[in-house]
Amino acid sequence: MKFHVLTLFPDMVENGLHTSIIGRGIEKGLLSVETVNIRDFSENKHNRVDDYPYGGGAGMVMQAGPVCKACRHVEEKIGKKARVLYMTPQGRVFSQAMAEELAKEEDLIFLCGHYEGIDERALEQVVTDEVSIGDYVLTGGELPAMVMIDSIARLLPGVLHNADSTGSESHQNDRLEYPQYTRPELFEGKAVPPVLLSGHHANIEKWRAQQSLKRTWERRPDLLSKTELTEEERLFVEKLEKGLAKEETS
Ligand code: ADE
Repeated sequence: MKFHVLTLFPDMVENGLHTSIIGRGIEKGLLSVETVNIRDFSENKHNRVDDYPYGGGAGMVMQAGPVCKACRHVEEKIGKKARVLYMTPQGRVFSQAMAEELAKEEDLIFLCGHYEGIDERALEQVVTDEVSIGDYVLTGGELPAMVMIDSIARLLPGVLHNADSTGSESHQNDRLEYPQYTRPELFEGKAVPPVLLSGHHANIEKWRAQQSLKRTWERRPDLLSKTELTEEERLFVEKLEKGLAKEETS
């Protein structure tokens, strides 16, 4: 999969993504991240890519010309149109489901804005999706693009060592992940839940599924309304609601 990032800060994106697990995926040739500096497509002798907003107001606006040219440069290079994702707090809120959908694409183009935004006409010309990473405002689209690339790239075959490790984690199946423990067995007086030391795989699975459900019920009840509960799960949630499930899950 190829990620193309249109940005005024290519170093920020490259330094952020060429390390750790995603960096290893790049080294293995499983994905690539290529940045395009929008400033290289400036249309004036001072290399500027922004100007004052028509109608007045604070801040500067990125001009349509350099943004469209940078985007078309990528489309020419890859020889086809691709989805162009504009990072903006006005967009659809990014989710695990969106990451899974985008992971099926061969190429994705991320457009990172700065200042007070991008001339609307450029967005109308080239953008296919407007995406937000949450209801807060950042100084630019680079961090949102990096967040999205990280979450999409880790879904690509071979990027994570353990193919299983995307199966049980938080937000998979709209459930939060169960708690994890490692050595030592006793830490500052706190013991590992005995069931995890029992070697009884069916009981461990059951305990984890219940913990997962309990956490989701406690922390993100909104997620539970998205999926159907099995009869066993429904009974467990009923116990949680009545405050009866403590001994079963502790
Ligand atoms: N640019 C600034 N804030 C943003 C956000 N929350 N999501 C995506 N892009 C942004």
